[in-house]
Amino acid sequence: MIDFDYKYKEAIEFVQKKFFTKPDLAIILGSGLGDFANSFDGSIKILTSDIPTYPHSTVIGHKGEIALVNYAGKNVILFSGRIHFYEVYNLSQCLLPIHLIKKLDCDKLILTNAAGGINKNFIPGDLMLASSFNGIWIKKEFAELFGVGSDSTINNFRNLPSNSLNHKIKSAAEKENIKIKEGVYWFTKGPSYETPSEVRLIKKFGGDAVGMSTVHEAFYSALLGIQTSAISCITNFASGISNQKLSHAEVTETASRIKSKFEALLKAIIKVL
Ligand code: HPA
Repeated sequence: MIDFDYKYKEAIEFVQKKFFTKPDLAIILGSGLGDFANSFDGSIKILTSDIPTYPHSTVIGHKGEIALVNYAGKNVILFSGRIHFYEVYNLSQCLLPIHLIKKLDCDKLILTNAAGGINKNFIPGDLMLASSFNGIWIKKEFAELFGVGSDSTINNFRNLPSNSLNHKIKSAAEKENIKIKEGVYWFTKGPSYETPSEVRLIKKFGGDAVGMSTVHEAFYSALLGIQTSAISCITNFASGISNQKLSHAEVTETASRIKSKFEALLKAIIKVL
């Protein structure tokens, strides 16, 4: 069973020394959304490559920076550069940012990501608030970290996503007149995109959007008692939903096209916290 405090002691100490103010909110920024931190003055920033044992993100559009910003009187910690499960050997490496958020005493987390749209009412450029998560393809690895059958792994994540945080996100969107759809986010391991058959399976079982991150982060965050929600940027039609060939370039292009909408929403959420 993993002891995060022991395994990542140096990383925790490093981050605690740099950021000594309790953040009111943490945001993990997904593909193409990484430079949100640049829209704030006076932030405290660190490169994740300076943090001992912090894994490198190898995906284009994931910068590897953590910034503490102040906006509307709230301290917000922003993680640009996520670590995907397909990039690492051990799931705990993907969960380190979540552990650090807890160690900074932060009790709210919004996970953001780029995702392929499956629901027929979704088009690229839409935003989707996760109403639930499907992690059947990561649950075993998750359970192995904590010991199969331990209390942690039989937790059924009843308050995931957080009702109260989802409510705040919806009211912020309404205030800003930003349309946000709702749906189930389904995790796949990647690194390749899904086959059309995999997408048909996900659709049949109620998935509205598909991506290669977020769910295990949400599980661990909920386990640590952090209020957790997730917002997806629908960057493309999932495989087989349209005839178009999928590419990472399309993902980052759509994410940058709707960047200002996404950033306006995040700022509105910070205001209503
Ligand atoms: N599938 C998986 N991950 C993704 C996709 C997708 O279609 N789009 C962006 N991330």
